[in-house]
Amino acid sequence: KKSCAVRDFLKPLKLSNDILCDIMKRLLKEVNKGLSKDTHEMAAVKCFLTYVQDLPTGQETGRYLAIDLGGANFRILLITLGPEKKFKMDARTYAFPEEKMVGGADEFFDYIAECVQTFKSTLKIENEEFPLGFCFSFPVETSGLNKGILTQWAKRFQVAGVVGKDVVALLQQALDKRNLKVKIKALVNDTTGCLMSCAWKDPNCRIGVIIGTGTNACYMEKIENVETFPDKSKPYMIINTEWGNFGSDGSLNDILTECDRQVDAISLRPGKEIFEKMVSVMYVCELIRICMVKCAELKYLFQGEITDHLKLKGTFLPEFMYDIEKDDTNLRKTMAILEESFLIHDVTMIDCANVQYIVKVICERSACLLSAAISTLVNKMALSPITIAIDGGMYRNHPFEMLLSQDGSGRGTALVAASIKK
Ligand code: BG6
Ligand code: GLC
Repeated sequence: KKSCAVRDFLKPLKLSNDILCDIMKRLLKEVNKGLSKDTHEMAAVKCFLTYVQDLPTGQETGRYLAIDLGGANFRILLITLGPEKKFKMDARTYAFPEEKMVGGADEFFDYIAECVQTFKSTLKIENEEFPLGFCFSFPVETSGLNKGILTQWAKRFQVAGVVGKDVVALLQQALDKRNLKVKIKALVNDTTGCLMSCAWKDPNCRIGVIIGTGTNACYMEKIENVETFPDKSKPYMIINTEWGNFGSDGSLNDILTECDRQVDAISLRPGKEIFEKMVSVMYVCELIRICMVKCAELKYLFQGEITDHLKLKGTFLPEFMYDIEKDDTNLRKTMAILEESFLIHDVTMIDCANVQYIVKVICERSACLLSAAISTLVNKMALSPITIAIDGGMYRNHPFEMLLSQDGSGRGTALVAASIKK
């Protein structure tokens, strides 16, 4: 059983329905600021143009290389699109060393180019020329399909000398230096990639959401609402909201807890990406760790023991969160994580129940905030039907599916009656 002290400590992390509805209003205001010419520059939620104005028709064909950078895995892919929606994919995952995530621009782009070279030689396609799609999951002010300036880094990345520069030009230079015979044709955010890949199968797909290491969404906006784009010849454009940065102007301060402030204070960019810090995997894990530390300081957990490992940033891994949350082994898995990975002595069953409760409360808040944000876009678009494309580690590890109930009252009632008869 969890203790009252821990339950009270976590109360500020529980958001009421009223507060969530209010957050929806605030987000809508921010999205409109990002779309408007006069306020875009200072908006926290930038609503960047993507220049993608057409959804796939399903008729697309050809061979393409793709780089996927910014999520939990750095991948290079060879994709073949054939007639009648035939699709083939060959992908390799490469390590992305921590020091290259926070080092200099030259080593950063050269490392990506080196991996492209390795990929081409592994697949024995060194001599072929390819168009390349660069999925770069960071805030980019795009000025064309293959042109975009990084406005700030996000997640674990903080490479010097890239903010303010065109990332396509920098990567193309690095690829050309190695003579790799690839030409970057498209620069996309992972949310756009997510939306486009689902729209390829389902034409009602209008929103792309990522809830993984970071969080973000893009959606199809009516062109008359996109003040920052003067050409009105096509009816829609996909807008990359960059909602992870929601709250960086102080608009979410009233719901931040002491633990949220601590996560922010020790992050790479204090004051930025406030919404992302309450919702996405990377920061939610830190939040869980910090809550555990605070509860231990107050002697609500582990009889006050705080090991060095527990004190260290980044030690609470996503798999711990998923395992503890769904631990149905009488908390044996939770106990093992606390003892073996955090080296805590004398862990009690009450400690385990408290830790599981911390994980559940924090994941639930993340889910509530994400739902509020998705609802904001759905209401804004006022379109029906709408399919939402979604990807990312947090979603993959909390799978749920919605199924339209066909004839619920008739068929469902008969099924209940039949099961009673049995
Ligand atoms: C992957 C996509 O499936 O999900 C990436 O290929 C995306 O482009 C990622 O960034 C997001 O999830 P995570 O959990 O890897 O951050
Ligand atoms: C961060 C990035 C954003 C990306 C998201 C999910 O919020 O700024 O571009 O889409 O993470 O990966």
